[in-house]
Amino acid sequence: MIGIFDSGLGGLSVMRAIRERLPAADLLYLADSAYCPYGPRPIDEIRDRALACGRWLVDHGAHIVVIACNTATAAAVELLRRTLPVPVVGMEPGVKPAVAATRRGKVAVLATSGTIASERFRSLVHAYAADVEVYPLACPDLVEQVEAGELTSEHTRSLILKHLASAPEADVLVLGCTHFPPLKPLIETCVEPGVVIIDTSPAVAAQTARIAQQINHPSESGNIRCVTTGDPAQIAPALHRVWGAPLPLSGVQIEATDVIIK
Ligand code: DGL
Repeated sequence: MIGIFDSGLGGLSVMRAIRERLPAADLLYLADSAYCPYGPRPIDEIRDRALACGRWLVDHGAHIVVIACNTATAAAVELLRRTLPVPVVGMEPGVKPAVAATRRGKVAVLATSGTIASERFRSLVHAYAADVEVYPLACPDLVEQVEAGELTSEHTRSLILKHLASAPEADVLVLGCTHFPPLKPLIETCVEPGVVIIDTSPAVAAQTARIAQQINHPSESGNIRCVTTGDPAQIAPALHRVWGAPLPLSGVQIEATDVIIK
């Protein structure tokens, strides 16, 4: 079984890509909705939640843990790799492919404030985008829109336009938060033709598949189960909209780990 977690519904975009790659794997998706959004939280709190979620997934049978969240990866991937007894897959905004794709030398990265402020993001830009202008755009309101299942509304569109106005010349947009791929069709209506939109979910799924092969992950029945630390009745309609079909969802309580490990 592959365990996947995010602060909320964003990681479903990663689960979709994993599902396409590994249709026979059982998937357990954990939405830490009671603590969503992660983006504006202090780094120690994000680490604590990420560790609690990772441990919960392992305790419930995950052979691989996928951090389907750029913010949690930036804050906690090393911690989880040190602490959990199974392989951990993380993710980061697709700055490297964006630099390869830009013709104007201008790239916008839509992400959370946590990702943008992180040391990992700084090093990523330093390593791959030194000769390119990078516009980091913190878009917490778009996370809220996806959590509300508002993938096509005029209000969501106006928020996208407001953010993109800060980087009018960018010809590549990086979806640096897993909440944003479900907004891709709407984002496409907000940009000029020819603007490239980069989503790293397929790369995360490819890495998950490589690890599954390395550990001889068994072929299973392709079951999907979703749990949330929030209120399942409240979350189910948006989950249905983001996934495109109903999925079984139940509630769980996951206490923070008692010790904050730095
Ligand atoms: N989906 C998350 C990410 O990829 C975080 C959104 C949030 O909780 O702020 O960064």
